[in-house]
Amino acid sequence: MILEVNNLSMKFDTKTVFQDLNFKLEAGSMTALLGPNGTGKTTLIKILMGMLKPTGGSFKFDKNVRLGYVPQFRNIDAEYPLSIRAFIGLNAHLFKTKKVREQIDHQLAETHLSQIQNTRMGEASGGQKQRAYLAQALLDHPNMIILDEATASLDPAAKEELMGLIKHLNQEHKITVLFVTHDIPLAKKYMTDYLYLNKGTIRQGKMSEFKEDFE
Ligand SMILES: Nc1ncnc2c1ncn2[C@@H]1O[C@H](COP(=O)(O)OP(=O)(O)OP(=O)(O)O)[C@@H](O)[C@H]1O
Ligand SMILES: [Mg+2]
Repeated sequence: MILEVNNLSMKFDTKTVFQDLNFKLEAGSMTALLGPNGTGKTTLIKILMGMLKPTGGSFKFDKNVRLGYVPQFRNIDAEYPLSIRAFIGLNAHLFKTKKVREQIDHQLAETHLSQIQNTRMGEASGGQKQRAYLAQALLDHPNMIILDEATASLDPAAKEELMGLIKHLNQEHKITVLFVTHDIPLAKKYMTDYLYLNKGTIRQGKMSEFKEDFE
């Protein structure tokens, strides 16, 4: 067990987003977090990342968890001056020792960005930017990564490349994955489990058994 959520509730003022959520994630699992717009997926992620305080209930990560977070692709200005390499290095010590430089080299290779590491982030494609965010998160050596709509604005080829990478991280590096998406076919292809958040409650199951007409 890498995460256990107990009776987790969240309200904004008087508006209840969800109530008494209960679920567990196994270490090494690959879970899609699904559900219609506005049901609280991002809110749940923010609570798990410690960016928001829940109004009820609790959650517990395994004591050895190291969390990585890949936010939804944000529009980086075309003039953004940092290279892909420098952007990834923002998540490392300012003083780049040989060891840190080697770690950046490693994550550049892992995310297929070595060849274009000197390209400015502002000039990179959506898929390249998204992989740079992933590489940045990987510098911390996470054993669990949470991705919020990481593929939403990507073309089909870029989606497949990112998902292939995530699958590799799960299978070869045993990283637990929680992936927020609206893309059911993509989730069916790459994820093994689902969490479906709708109408304030959550349902958990095997992705192969997921039906879109769940109420
Ligand atoms: N800071 C806030 N203050 C008040 N209401 C909020 C706040 N953040 C989110 N909400 C509300 O909580 C609900 C859940 O929002 P959230 O962004 O978590 O949904 P989501 O499932 O991620 O949606 P989407 O699929 O569109 O990304 C929405 O009704 C939203 O308006
Ligand atoms: Mg969201």
